[in-house]
Amino acid sequence: MPTATYTFPAGFLWGTATSAFQVEGNSPASNWTAWTNEPGRILQGMKPGLACDWWGGRWKEDFDRAAESGQNAHRLSVDWARIQPAEDRWNEDALDYYRQIVRGAVERGLLPMVTLHHFSDPLWLSEQGGWANPKSPQYFEAFVRKTVEALKEYVSLWVTINEPNIYYFSGYLTGEFPPGHHGDLESTFQVLCNMLRGHAAAYRTIHEIQKNARVGLAHHHRPLRAARSWMPFDQLIAHLGPQVMNAFPLALKDGKVRFMLKQASLPEVVHTQDFFGLNYYAINLLKFVLKPADNFIKTSFPKEAEVSGSGFLANLPEGLFESFRWARQFNIPILVTENGIEDSDDGLRQRYLVEHIHQMWRAVTYSWPVKGYFHWSQIDNFEWERGWTQRFGLWGLNTETQARIRRKSVDIYAEICRTNGISSEMIKKYVPALTGKLFPG
Ligand code: FCB
Repeated sequence: MPTATYTFPAGFLWGTATSAFQVEGNSPASNWTAWTNEPGRILQGMKPGLACDWWGGRWKEDFDRAAESGQNAHRLSVDWARIQPAEDRWNEDALDYYRQIVRGAVERGLLPMVTLHHFSDPLWLSEQGGWANPKSPQYFEAFVRKTVEALKEYVSLWVTINEPNIYYFSGYLTGEFPPGHHGDLESTFQVLCNMLRGHAAAYRTIHEIQKNARVGLAHHHRPLRAARSWMPFDQLIAHLGPQVMNAFPLALKDGKVRFMLKQASLPEVVHTQDFFGLNYYAINLLKFVLKPADNFIKTSFPKEAEVSGSGFLANLPEGLFESFRWARQFNIPILVTENGIEDSDDGLRQRYLVEHIHQMWRAVTYSWPVKGYFHWSQIDNFEWERGWTQRFGLWGLNTETQARIRRKSVDIYAEICRTNGISSEMIKKYVPALTGKLFPG
């Protein structure tokens, strides 16, 4: 085996990502707290409860561990419902506490990247139609202004909205997220357009407040293929799928929103991102099925792929490379804002991690502008409608005791972060089965 190291450029960001509703606990009135209280919405009726108890202060120990493991950045989000519990009320204590959290990150050497919207909306907004309400962009802009003013001393790297496509797809087409609509193309289009307007308004507001800000969104990119290449209907959905899933970032290129048969012109959204935030998890195969309730689609993974514990994801590192190739069309630096796998016994995570980071290194050697990587996640957290059934953490969580449980993957990710690369020794030590694949010859 040759001895070699795949090294990343100096200054590369290495971190983990979390989101407010998933880690904070005791969340205030939002679309998601309401959803978790409705019977039948969350697998096994699970509740977030204290989550990872970040609002009770346990972010400190998680940040300590992240910093001790060589990470130099952390992506977290703020909960709009905490900061603006009613349309006419701001919660200054919540803003103060968020200031402590982001200062805590900086003090530990973790560059904070703050996401302003990560799936959860204040309940007062959902009661007015959420993002389908034409006033939602201006509400969001006011919240962003308030929050950025409060946190600007410590934060200059911002994500406006996390995965607008998953928000509208799961909330308005499959119904797994609130508000639980099925196949509601009309509302989906309104939400898409309003989120675009909100994002663009936030982009401008942040730059107005903070000259050196870097602002983007976090886009979920999922390469899609026809399950049966000979089947025209599979080909058709594999052709329409990317339109549905990528309509948001594509509109930022030319101000044209194209979604199924609908179109809109939003010239104000053009060029409103300073970096491209990429969330990549897996590739999907799409099969046409005669089931309107499933939007006529059955998804699966390529046959050869190693599938995760609950069958939710698979280890398909080449899809990350493909996603970079796709993201290059925006001509801006790329940050991997999420990537990870649910794997409670940690049997697959080390391979997943190393193989994805290796693909990222390949992209860097092509001189593609990849500047950082945030693994999802630092610690197990409440996985939306899947509750606690999926464990994405480098660290496990005992939800009864709040104890953090060290998984093997902590060590390999720490070595990658500390040395800013992947070495053949590392692979031999942690994942010897990958030696021939990553270091052939
Ligand atoms: C992404 C979400 C994130 C987490 C991961 C597993 O779609 O942005 O909050 O749930 O999936």
